Amino acid sequence: LESGCLSIVVLGASGDLAKKKTFPALFHLFRQGFLQSNEVHIFGYARTKLSSEELRERLRGYLSKGKEESVEELDYLSKFLQLIKYVSGSYDSEEGFQLLNKEILEHESSKRSQLGTSRRLFYLALPPSVYPSVCKMIRNYCMNQSDLTGWTRIIVEKPFGKDLGSSEELSAQLGELFDEKQLYRIDHYLGKELVQNLLVVRFANRFFLPLWNRDNIDNVQARFSICVIVFREDFGTEGRGGYFDEYGIIRDIIQNHLLQVFCLVAMEKPVSLKPEHIRDEKVKVLQSVLPIKLEEVVLGQYDGYRDDQTVSPNSNTPTFATVILRIHNERWEGVPFILKAGKALNSRKAEIRVQFKEVPGQKQGRNEFVIRLQPLEAMYMKLTVKKPGLEMSTIQSELDLSYKQRYQDVVIPEAYERLILDTIRGDQQHFVRRDELKAAWEIFTPLLHQIDDGELKPLPYKPGSRGPAEADQLLAKAGYVQTHGY
Ligand code: BG6
Repeated sequence: LESGCLSIVVLGASGDLAKKKTFPALFHLFRQGFLQSNEVHIFGYARTKLSSEELRERLRGYLSKGKEESVEELDYLSKFLQLIKYVSGSYDSEEGFQLLNKEILEHESSKRSQLGTSRRLFYLALPPSVYPSVCKMIRNYCMNQSDLTGWTRIIVEKPFGKDLGSSEELSAQLGELFDEKQLYRIDHYLGKELVQNLLVVRFANRFFLPLWNRDNIDNVQARFSICVIVFREDFGTEGRGGYFDEYGIIRDIIQNHLLQVFCLVAMEKPVSLKPEHIRDEKVKVLQSVLPIKLEEVVLGQYDGYRDDQTVSPNSNTPTFATVILRIHNERWEGVPFILKAGKALNSRKAEIRVQFKEVPGQKQGRNEFVIRLQPLEAMYMKLTVKKPGLEMSTIQSELDLSYKQRYQDVVIPEAYERLILDTIRGDQQHFVRRDELKAAWEIFTPLLHQIDDGELKPLPYKPGSRGPAEADQLLAKAGYVQTHGY
């Protein structure tokens, strides 16, 4: 990392995202030596009236593992907490942001004589409704102006609007205040180990290079299922139920997390590994997606969803969706990409399944390449082998790379940890570019409008089930063959 004075400002510091993701990620970075005490200061900013000491004590509760904590760990935690200062103010208050700037300047002037460059990172752990006003305040009062080698960067997170129109409006508002190089749009799936591995596996292996196309691949499925009813969590100032009911599973998971994974599976080889080259290819594949056909969509809503008090009693919001995307290009013409996500299902899992075409005459089933993003990161290939023993018969088995077994000594970093570090390093590869976001909304907006207008109704399904049976039927129709046992 370049050296210099670094001020990290967490806006929405008293909220849920900050508590669960942002501060733990910062602590882990500090713990691993990426944030140096002599350079870094962390500022929490939020409306809640708190003293710095009160915020530190709250955070101590979230970050410490309690009684099992070793003395050494407790010492790290105390040193980390000493870096944190709290400033209270509202998100459109000039005085609040002037005060914040004063605090940052104080920190910078105490360090600059030794360190030179001044760097400011603003993390918006906030609902997007306040992004425009907060960004305006940062632009007006908190930019790094003191030296030319420094920078100001802003991290924002979805939802970026609700459809193409609202997203473009938000992009335009932020685009007036900051240039694209300063904006880091997080999709935390891009920070996951096995998602980052996708391009390496695809483009660095002879096994896959010649096979990764319509001649050999029958279908691809990216699915995400979650058994916990996440929307019941309290999230920042807005109840999570209220948030979810307004957005639904397509906006919450499919249009962003699964679509990013889809891009990495389907895109062409980039000219280089430079962030802009990679993002150029993602945009191209998104632009090659054909309009979604209604007969290739199944929506679901689990029984009991509307009992939540923060959910509208007549809610039409899908908590489950299966959507087939089709790409119009030479590599993928005719191959269905099945994106499937749901809440309150029978397991918590996110994986990509690439099913190859059948080998004529083979009865053991197809080859399948599975990348399990979580839990228990793994990649495995289903293949036909001779059944061990005296008889000459065949069975299907697996070539298995399970990360826990193979890389026992490696701790896989949390997505947020990696993405914050990338922001400090100025690497935008794993962040969503403005045109990429636009292309993603273009794919889903017509379908979302049809759902919002009530033209398409979610089918009921039982919590703890696989989702509506119609989704399995759609998969079968698309050529997906259920494989078992692993
Ligand atoms: C978030 C969604 O973006 O991702 C949540 O808003 C979802 O609804 C979460 O539960 C899943 O993230 P992870 O890292 O737990 O798979």
